[in-house]
Amino acid sequence: MLQNIDRILEEARQFKAETKEEVEQFRIKYLGKKGILSGLFKDFKGVPSEQKREVGLKINQLKQYVADRIDALLADVTEESGNEKTVDLTLPGPPLRSGARHPVSIVRNEIISIFERLGYTISEGPEIEDDWHVFSSLNFPPEHPARDMQDTFFIEKDPDILLRTHTSSVQVRVMEKESLPIRTISPGRVFRNEAISARAHCIFHQVEGLYIDENVSFADLKQTLLYFAREMFGKQVDIRLRPSYFPFTEPSAEMDISCQICGGKGCNVCKYTGWLEILGCGMVDPNVLEFNHIDSDKYTGFAFGMGIERVAMLKYQVRDLRLYFENDIRFLEQFQAAY
Ligand code: DAH
Repeated sequence: MLQNIDRILEEARQFKAETKEEVEQFRIKYLGKKGILSGLFKDFKGVPSEQKREVGLKINQLKQYVADRIDALLADVTEESGNEKTVDLTLPGPPLRSGARHPVSIVRNEIISIFERLGYTISEGPEIEDDWHVFSSLNFPPEHPARDMQDTFFIEKDPDILLRTHTSSVQVRVMEKESLPIRTISPGRVFRNEAISARAHCIFHQVEGLYIDENVSFADLKQTLLYFAREMFGKQVDIRLRPSYFPFTEPSAEMDISCQICGGKGCNVCKYTGWLEILGCGMVDPNVLEFNHIDSDKYTGFAFGMGIERVAMLKYQVRDLRLYFENDIRFLEQFQAAY
């Protein structure tokens, strides 16, 4: 009998449990009504009286051991499963990664906001256009190289349907449907058949500007663009206009801003000129007004067009155009939008 009790004790010591259910099984096996201990107590009756003291002590020790062991096992399993199931509501939550606007959107929105402050409306036009809106009505002669297959993505020939190569086409759509005076900007995507490199891409974004009224002068254009440049790049910025050529403006100019890296002294960013080219502009060619049934004796206007990626490159000093299109999260998450 004594040996039997020792064996049972050893067995109880070896027992391990992972769940509450297993501990309960253990309890029933030892302490249940028909369990090992009640069996032992029954057998105890038959123990010769001279052994009763020793055997009784052993059985009670075993019972106590089993009871303690059950408590210990229960404490273990509830602690472990507690780790899995309970949530500590006082812990700080995992950080949420908030998205950021694309730099092209940030710059576009900022350009829009600047011109809205000057009373400009926003207009949009289709990306798939016809020859009239992209070229002919903008005074491109029939043999102009910009119409060439090398620059333009044609969708259909005769009549020509193509992807717009510039947002100047929206000027025409606005002149067609809106009454004068017109003061609008047109942001949008444009397409050119160019090999992709750090400096050129086949898809990019432009903002077109158009202002037509009586007595609009080149001085108005200059002052508008100076205001834009200073709002966009800072009060210290200077601009200069260089004579240029566009079929739809006469006279035409290209605008530079003073280099913000070297303050105009000359550095490798501005190729030691102190100036950075930013947009094209000019007075709307009277032919363009007449094509769109606007009396060019009564009305004058100015127009300008800029590349959004170009402005973003100057603003953020990111000089590989491809980065704007690859959507690498490590690049994009560096931009914080105020707009
Ligand atoms: N459309 C021209 C381009 O894509 C940009 C431009 C130049 C627009 C002069 C204008 C302008 O409205 O007056 O290169």
